[in-house]
Amino acid sequence: MQLQLENLLSYPYSEEHFEHTELKPRYKVDLRNPRNEEWERFIDLGYVRDWSLLSWKDVGKPYRVENYANAKLEWEKEHGQTLPVKMSWEMFNKSFHEWFEKDVPTELSETGKSFWRAMARFDFQEVKTALSDYIQLSVWNYAHRISDGIWDPRGKRALFQGLDVEKPRILFLGAAEGYEGMQLYSMYPGGEVVLVDYDEYCKTHRFGDFPESYPFLGYNPETGSPRVWYKNQMKIEYIVDDIRNLNFGPEFDIVISVGLLEHFPDEMKPEVLEWHRKFLKPSGYVIMTTPRHHVKTRLFYTIMEEVMNHTYRELMTVTQMGLYLYENGFDILRHGTIKVHNGIVAKVR
Ligand SMILES: C[S@@+](CC[C@H](N)C(=O)[O-])C[C@H]1O[C@@H](n2cnc3c(N)ncnc32)[C@H](O)[C@@H]1O
Repeated sequence: MQLQLENLLSYPYSEEHFEHTELKPRYKVDLRNPRNEEWERFIDLGYVRDWSLLSWKDVGKPYRVENYANAKLEWEKEHGQTLPVKMSWEMFNKSFHEWFEKDVPTELSETGKSFWRAMARFDFQEVKTALSDYIQLSVWNYAHRISDGIWDPRGKRALFQGLDVEKPRILFLGAAEGYEGMQLYSMYPGGEVVLVDYDEYCKTHRFGDFPESYPFLGYNPETGSPRVWYKNQMKIEYIVDDIRNLNFGPEFDIVISVGLLEHFPDEMKPEVLEWHRKFLKPSGYVIMTTPRHHVKTRLFYTIMEEVMNHTYRELMTVTQMGLYLYENGFDILRHGTIKVHNGIVAKVR
């Protein structure tokens, strides 16, 4: 009885919830069926047919985000040096994770009340703080909860579909909470996901606190029918280490990164792309996404600068992203956009 109750709490969704969507206080549940094309949200921009004809003169270089979180600027002022890269990731991961933990409707309501209380006292400093908190919360509410743009399960499912793999070994570089590794496992179950991040906090908190009851829509390998998967039902290994220290051979069917390439300036991009190539089986797939250069994403990184901007960051178009991959020896199978990211599926040329 006790066990049944625990299972019900950890695994609250099943076949009867297909097509179901629901707004939770912290995130959205979206179990719309992957076979129903109209729900898929990967816009395949197959407009570049021959990448060899493109040049940087045609496509331009990515936009660089140069407004930073005060925490980074203050550290640099105090220490008289640039914030070390790994430390900047540690600051980012802590700050970003706090937002995934927020009960957004409750916080919005509390912040609204603080605003009016401060107005009644003519405390304009407090009014300013409450207003700024309210704007950030509203942006987060829309970006993460209402539009589900950060996890974007429909977009990711559409981007990941159609890979010729069975029980794949999946390597996720710079995995943070590992969301996309878990989505891939659900769609191609039975293998293994290896998550790698050099920030210990990602293993203990970002992945560790990831809700066990979050449903990933995928497949049942025995029946080929859709099925809901949960974090605890997947084979996942979390390695806390620098990607540069990994000593795997070319043994993975899929190597994925989500929001990694744009954090390295051009002189380092070949090395980052090499990380994706070196652990891949010859027939394997590389899947990469990066935030899109779009007026909405620029606005997001402006309003949310205190939460997000601790590291070097670029915003690029899918064509710019594709050119980096093509120039560094990848053949692009599919390129397009999901909600707020570009997405590319590629193979080594
Ligand atoms: C921007 S995050 C990826 C986006 C992620 N989906 C999120 O929600 O934050 C990039 C991650 O890569 C990790 N990372 C960056 N460089 C790394 C390296 N050399 N080795 C291991 N992890 C690295 C960072 O710690 C960070 O957690």
